[in-house]
Amino acid sequence: MKADFGVIGLAVMGQNLVLNVEDKGYTVAVFNRTAERTKEFVEGRAKDKRIIPAYTLEEFVDALARPRKVLIMVKAGAPVDAVLEKLFPLLERGDLVIDGGNSHYADTERRLKEAEERGLLYLGTGISGGEYGALHGPSIMAGGHREGYELVQEIFERIAAVGPEGPCCGYFGQGSAGHYVKMVHNGIEYAIMETIAEAYDLMKRGLGMSPDEMAGVFSDWNGRELGGYLFEITERILRYRDPETGEPLVELILDTAKQKGTGKWSTQSALDIGTPAPTIAMAVFARIISALKDERVAASEVLSGPEPTLGVDRGEFIRRLFGAVYLSVIAAYAQGLRQLRDATAERGYGLDLAEAARVWMAGCIIRSALLVPIRKALLEDPALPCLFLAEPFKSAWGEYNGDLRWVTCLAREHGIPTPAMDSALTFVDAYRAARLPANLIQAQRDFFGAHTYQRIDKEGTFHTDWEAVA
Ligand SMILES: NC(=O)c1ccc[n+]([C@@H]2O[C@H](COP(=O)([O-])OP(=O)(O)OC[C@H]3O[C@@H](n4cnc5c(N)ncnc54)[C@H](OP(=O)(O)O)[C@@H]3O)[C@@H](O)[C@H]2O)c1
Repeated sequence: MKADFGVIGLAVMGQNLVLNVEDKGYTVAVFNRTAERTKEFVEGRAKDKRIIPAYTLEEFVDALARPRKVLIMVKAGAPVDAVLEKLFPLLERGDLVIDGGNSHYADTERRLKEAEERGLLYLGTGISGGEYGALHGPSIMAGGHREGYELVQEIFERIAAVGPEGPCCGYFGQGSAGHYVKMVHNGIEYAIMETIAEAYDLMKRGLGMSPDEMAGVFSDWNGRELGGYLFEITERILRYRDPETGEPLVELILDTAKQKGTGKWSTQSALDIGTPAPTIAMAVFARIISALKDERVAASEVLSGPEPTLGVDRGEFIRRLFGAVYLSVIAAYAQGLRQLRDATAERGYGLDLAEAARVWMAGCIIRSALLVPIRKALLEDPALPCLFLAEPFKSAWGEYNGDLRWVTCLAREHGIPTPAMDSALTFVDAYRAARLPANLIQAQRDFFGAHTYQRIDKEGTFHTDWEAVA
């Protein structure tokens, strides 16, 4: 009997996806570069299941029913090319290759072309939800050959998480559209995580709250309009005690966060296409600064600053911190979705933003109650330039911007860094400013580089000899 589906790469994601697909009634062929991992899998978690192990790629390809459907779940970058180099020549016209890892969209474009030249179908597909999602229902963002998507649509719909508006998988368009949507999803994820970390820092250092007390706050917020996976896990993390010491584990963890791949790429692409994504960028930079642990420890001895104790009423601060966090989280989605909108214009993806909001409703890391009103706003106006212009976000801005100002002012006054919250505030303040000081920047550019400028009182392009005395 031939397998319905094949998976190459049996690390965390690969194994769990295989088990998820098998659980839905399909037979799955599996291959991993290191044979030991395959053996361990089929003798362990995959025992007595419709899973066919292969120890060479030839065996693997031979085990698959045609047209073959092969999902690659290996480390992003060179490993994907290493697999494709060997896999492509073994496949036949009409077979489908799906790269389910976090590949860079430019790599996906290149690989897709190569597949096309060989008469193969190719899908660059972002899969979110980590280990748990892979097994119980991830959020799947596909892009590439539409005929390829049609071949696996049924499997994807059956393994995906089910949200309030159906299975959380979707086809986003040609080329690298799927990987681009996943990349921006991860950018939003960075910004929400940083916002939550800032709220934790303000409560911990500013108010002297214990992890259990903070867990209570996150539990309350999670039940409100911004509730979602990242708030849920934050509460659980804060409540977790280290079995060895009995201490809250979070306080024993080194304060340096890694940033690699998608968060950085999302910001690089925002810069390339000229879309404003400052909160996502600040979240990436915050991780970069966190990684300078030794320098920070040394600088803490040299550079003075105010006491972090906020000295305000705890209840009032937490109440207003909610508004600050809520607006910052909206800013993260607003910027990410704006980036997708601009990428569609720039890269010709034809992305459906309301569909992205639907696919993010369950299974993925940024799933949140907010995605319901976000999708509604995007369905009402698919070309919405900024979420804050639509309800309920417009009213939320009106109701809470004073809280965001108050919280960030206090943070500035007491030397507690809140780059995501600050950038969310200044993003909206700049966006809602009918006149910004860029007139002076135009003048400066014209002064030193004769770059010319436009005027508000007449049409045309102008240059001034600024050295000449007026
Ligand atoms: N982990 C997550 O929560 C998560 C969530 C979403 C997306 N992703 C993405 O999903 C993909 C897989 O992630 P993962 O965490 O399961 O695995 P991973 O740690 O990123 O990669 C390990 C897998 O890659 C294989 N591999 C590495 N170099 C190779 C090469 N040169 N040739 C062939 N195979 C090679 C390994 O095979 P060996 O056993 O032979 O070393 C192993 O199967 C990545 O792109 C990741 O970014 C991960």
